Amino acid sequence: MNIIDIITKKRLNEELSKEELDYAFSGYLKNNIKDYQMSALLMAICINGMTDQEIFDLVDIFIKSGDCLDLSSLEGIKVDKHSTGGIGDKITLIIGPIVASLGVIVPKMSGRGLGYTGGTIDKLESIPGFKVNLTEEEFIQELKDVSFAVTSQTSNLCPLDKVIYALRDVTGTTESIPLIATSIMSKKIAGGADKILIDIKCGEGALIKNNEDALKLKDIMERIGNFYNRETICEVTDMNIPLGSNIGNAIEVMEAIEVLKGKKSRLTDLSIQLASEMVKVSLNISLEEAKTKVINSLESGMALEKFYQFVKYQGGKIEKLKVSEFKQEIKSEKAGVITNIKALNIGKLSCSLGAGRINKEDTIDYGVGIILNKQVGDVVNIGDTLFTLYKKNSNNITLNISEYYEIN
Ligand code: URA
Repeated sequence: MNIIDIITKKRLNEELSKEELDYAFSGYLKNNIKDYQMSALLMAICINGMTDQEIFDLVDIFIKSGDCLDLSSLEGIKVDKHSTGGIGDKITLIIGPIVASLGVIVPKMSGRGLGYTGGTIDKLESIPGFKVNLTEEEFIQELKDVSFAVTSQTSNLCPLDKVIYALRDVTGTTESIPLIATSIMSKKIAGGADKILIDIKCGEGALIKNNEDALKLKDIMERIGNFYNRETICEVTDMNIPLGSNIGNAIEVMEAIEVLKGKKSRLTDLSIQLASEMVKVSLNISLEEAKTKVINSLESGMALEKFYQFVKYQGGKIEKLKVSEFKQEIKSEKAGVITNIKALNIGKLSCSLGAGRINKEDTIDYGVGIILNKQVGDVVNIGDTLFTLYKKNSNNITLNISEYYEIN
C-alpha cells in the first residue's frame, strides 16, 4: 500500500477500504505519513466526502488509536455534551455546572479552538492556574467529588483525533461533515459517557453553514451513537450571529459567570434549553420538569457555586482572571437599527487580535477579545459604541464597520 495511491483514490472520489484508511491515519499518528500528505488526503475528503462505511470505519480507527475511559466506578448516569463550535459559544461553562448541580455526572472531554470558533480548553486555560490535562484517575476522582470535570484529550484518549484536529485547523479542512462526525463521536465514545448531547451549530459563524448539512450531520452522529449503544441527542441551533456578547477567552469565561449570576440573554435561554435536554435524558423526567430544575439551579445560585467548586478543584484562581488593559471602542458612523452582526467576521477579528490560532504552533493571548456592546434589534445613534476591542497593545486598529454590523 502507498499513501500517494490512497490520496489519489480519494481525489477520484473512490471509496477507501478500512485497511487503506488505517494505513493513512494510523500511519500519520506514527509519523510514517507526512503533514503534507495527510493535508492532501483531508482536503480530498473535505471535497469529495465519505461513504457511511468509510465514516464508521474511521470512527473505529480513531477510537482504537488510544484507550477508552471506563467510568463504571461512578454511580448514576453520565452525560456528555459537545458543540460543533461557534463564535462566542461558552455554553459548556454554563450548563456543565447547572447539570452537575442537579446530581448528574458530566464528564467533559474538550478541545481547543478550531477554525474561527473558540474551544472550551483555551477558554479554561485563560483562568490562571487552571489545569486542563487531567490524568484518568484525576478526572474520575473529580467526577466523584464535583460531578463535573473538563479535561483536554489526554495523549492516550483518541490521540488520532488530537493530531488530525490540529492539522485540520490550519489547512482549511474543518468544514467537513464526515470529519466532524468522526472527530466528535470517536472522542465522545472513548470518553465513556452513557448519553451524549451534541449542539450542532448552524449558520454563518459555524462550521456547518446550512440546515441541510446540519441535518446530515445529525443523522450520521445519531447513527454512530446508536451503533455504540450511547443515546445521542443532536440539537441544531442558530449560529448566524455571535452567541452572547463576549468573544475571546478570559472574556468569555466572564460572560459565563454573568449568566450563572442571573444575566438574561439569548445565551441564557439556549443554556436553559440544552441543560434541560441533558437533565431530561439523564433523570428520565419530562422536559418541563427538567426545565424547572434547571431554572431553579440558576436562580438559587447552585450552578454558580458548582462552577466555582469546579474551577478551584482544577487549580484555577478565578479572582485572577483578567482581560487586556488595551481597549478600543468602535463607534457607530450611522444611526438606525442593528439588523445583523456578522458572526464569521467577528470570529476572524477575534482571531486576528490573538484569541485564536492561524498556525498550529501559535500561542493564544487569553486576555484579548471583543465585547459586543450592541445586539441585533438595538437602536443606535452616530457615535454610540457598537463593540469594544481588547488588544495586545495600544496600536490603533482601523476597521470597516459594515463588515461587522449591519445598521439600517
Ligand atoms: N468539535 C470537534 O471536536 N471536532 C470537530 O471536528 C468539530 C468540532
